[in-house]
Amino acid sequence: MRAIVLAGNGDASMLQVADVPKPEPAAGQLLVQVQAVGVNPIDYKLRQTGAFGFSTGSILGFDCAGVVEAVGPGVREFKRGDAVFYSPDFSGPGAYAEYHCVSADIVAFKPKCVDFIEAAAIPLAGMTAWDSIMDRGALRLGETVLIHGASGGVGSIALQLAHAAGAYVFATASPANMGLVRSLGADYVIDRTKEDFAQVIRSHAPRRSADLVFDAFGAELVSRSMPLVRPLGRIVTIVNPSGDLAVGYRKNISLHYVFLQRRRSTLEELSHLLTRRLLKPVISHVLPLEQAAEGHRMLEAGGGFGKIVLKVTHAA
Ligand SMILES: NC(=O)c1ccc[n+]([C@@H]2O[C@H](COP(=O)([O-])OP(=O)(O)OC[C@H]3O[C@@H](n4cnc5c(N)ncnc54)[C@H](OP(=O)(O)O)[C@@H]3O)[C@@H](O)[C@H]2O)c1
Repeated sequence: MRAIVLAGNGDASMLQVADVPKPEPAAGQLLVQVQAVGVNPIDYKLRQTGAFGFSTGSILGFDCAGVVEAVGPGVREFKRGDAVFYSPDFSGPGAYAEYHCVSADIVAFKPKCVDFIEAAAIPLAGMTAWDSIMDRGALRLGETVLIHGASGGVGSIALQLAHAAGAYVFATASPANMGLVRSLGADYVIDRTKEDFAQVIRSHAPRRSADLVFDAFGAELVSRSMPLVRPLGRIVTIVNPSGDLAVGYRKNISLHYVFLQRRRSTLEELSHLLTRRLLKPVISHVLPLEQAAEGHRMLEAGGGFGKIVLKVTHAA
């Protein structure tokens, strides 16, 4: 089968088209004919660093939508022909390939309201956003939330979840992405290149503070956000925070570090929202699988929005 294989760790030129053996499903696994694969920052981070053992010969790709081709022994929930979506975990090959084997436990049926390209834009970012906003962030109706990085893959879903939950949503973006962020339901879009987000919250938030801050960028955004979080408020980050976090003690702030947990139940929650049109996939570019390197270059360059998705074509 065709796959995109790492020729080593380094820049995007390390992603090369190769012919590799088609995998076979072990007990508890599905063999999926891949239709579309999402590109995520973790892909280029693993390509660069070799973390989790992704080095020469490895296949990346941690968002997948496709059709079940075969099931391994013991699989009862799925059958050949089912349309599915999921986030491959880091214990085996990713899904930049024509076929992928996955543990059935972390797979869900693809909702009918989205096509394969749209479905591949959801799992990794969607499960991370769900855990961040709904689970660990425990956002409630009427609360105020500030979302940093709201135009990105995770942020664009976090924003839609917060809006659907009935929160008052402040969201940061660069000027080119402010319109998109507004269209996704932000009540107040902050131009992160010109405006001071703390000042905006103090001036415009209903209680002059945020109940929850979600950080999808990292660096000093957590420490810089602490002064605007109310006492006993919450901050959720998905990227290493830096800076002085001591203010958090004095205000009894809960700081949550979220690392993606792959659960079928979370994919099902997201499916319900997609079906009810409370969540829509945000896709900036669709490229053929063979242009995975170009997808990496675009994502690494920044300045985009939503997701880049690779489309896999199969010989008739
Ligand atoms: N912990 C986990 O389990 C987990 C899961 C998924 C992702 N992540 C990580 O979370 C990060 C975001 O992922 P993603 O898929 O959303 O990436 P992405 O699509 O590249 O989005 C990142 C967003 O950050 C914004 N941004 C850029 N510079 C910024 C700055 N100086 N201040 C504030 N925002 C800035 C950009 O939007 P604007 O230019 O419009 O502001 C961009 O859309 C990545 O580092 C990724 O590896 C972690």
